[in-house]
Formats: sequence, structure tokens, C-alpha cells
Amino acid sequence: MKVKRIEEIAHTMKPEEFPRDERPDVALVGRSNVGKSSLLNSLVNRKNFARTSSTPGKTRAIYFYLVNNAFYLVDLPGYGYARVSAELRQKWTPMMEKYFRNRPLLALLAHLVDIRHPPTREDLLMAEWMRHFRLNYLVVATKADKVPRGRRAQNLKALRQGLGLHPEHPLITFSAKTKEGREELLKFIKGTLLSVGVKV
Ligand code: GTP
Ligand code: MG
Repeated sequence: MKVKRIEEIAHTMKPEEFPRDERPDVALVGRSNVGKSSLLNSLVNRKNFARTSSTPGKTRAIYFYLVNNAFYLVDLPGYGYARVSAELRQKWTPMMEKYFRNRPLLALLAHLVDIRHPPTREDLLMAEWMRHFRLNYLVVATKADKVPRGRRAQNLKALRQGLGLHPEHPLITFSAKTKEGREELLKFIKGTLLSVGVKV
């Protein structure tokens, strides 16, 4: 898949301001600071399209980006970082529930987890939540450049175990810095969209 066109359509916390049409969503979810906005920028080949920051809690609303006029890439606010304000933490669950309830065409969730650490309690809760709602999700292990290749397999195994994933559950190792995993992820997204009848 080639990203030919991308435009920000909305950033909001209010469902009435979500885009309403027949295009499906591919949404990014994960702990604050895990690299959601960086991954989005890497996918669309833009340096600072979605704002990134070393301070957790940068993305405070739901961002809808229309890609190739065909689907929405959705940057969701991060969860579970102690330094994120109490206000954002309080708003997170109702905001996500509103999102899940109001997006019938959620084709794929990419669940980002940090390859350096075992999953957090919130990572596991998120995985269980997605399974509970029978959402189609893929796990992306981010910041791969920070782990030497020799240690990757061990870390990935810990992630699979900690998240309770089937051995065949799709998992892509990714780095926004080196672009490792980018092509694989684009291919996966393209395949998923095709399966719901959307050609990109
Ligand atoms: P919130 O919006 O706060 O939820 O965070 P986020 O998940 O959008 O994270 P963001 O993309 O802003 O990245 C957080 C920090 O991690 C930034 O300092 C990024 O530069 C860094 N980062 C993200 N991805 C990678 C990566 O693949 N490798 C390395 N080395 N650093 C990364
Ligand atoms: Mg962000």
C-alpha cells in the first residue's frame, strides 16, 4: 500500500464530531508514550504529522486521519502512564467506550506494546477488552531499535505470554526510527481492508 494522500479530518472527544460515512477505521491503541503517533508518522512518511513527545499524554483526543480517501487512521489517546494527568486518566475509559460504541466499521486495532518490557497490567486489560468485544486486533511491538536482535525472541515470547496471545496471533516487530516492520504493517493493513471490501 502506498500512502498517497492523508488529511486530518477531526480531533475530538465528542462522538457527534466523529466522521460519519462508510469508510472503516484502523485505530492505534496503547500505553501513553509507547509510540502510537510516531508509528502513524512513519506509516504515512511524514515527520511531524501527528504530534509526538517524550512527555507522555501528548495525544489527548481522538485524531481521525483520512488516508487515500479510503479509510481512517485513528490515533487514540494513550493509557496507563503514572505521569499522565489525573484528568486525562479519568476521561480515558468513557472516551474509549464512546469510541468503540460509535464505530461500527472498526476494521482493525493495532495494539502497541513496548518490546523492551513485559506487558503492563493495563496492556493486559486492553487485550482482554479487545477480546471481550471481539475486535480484530494485531499486536505491534514498538521501539525494536532499542533491543539487540539477539534478545528479541525472548522479549516477544514474554509479550505473547503476558498478553495471553495465541502462538499464531499476528504480531509485528516495529521501529519508527529504523522503519523496521513498516512494510509488513502496511501489507497487513491493506489485507485487512481488502477483507472488508476496501481497496487501497
Ligand atoms: P501519547 O500521545 O502520549 O499517548 O504517546 P505516543 O504513544 O503517541 O508516543 P509518541 O509517538 O509521542 O512517542 C513517545 C516517545 O517515544 C517519543 O520521544 C518518540 O520519539 C519515542 N519513540 C517512538 N517510537 C520510537 C521508536 O520506534 N524507537 C525509538 N528509539 N524511539 C521511539
Ligand atoms: Mg501520541
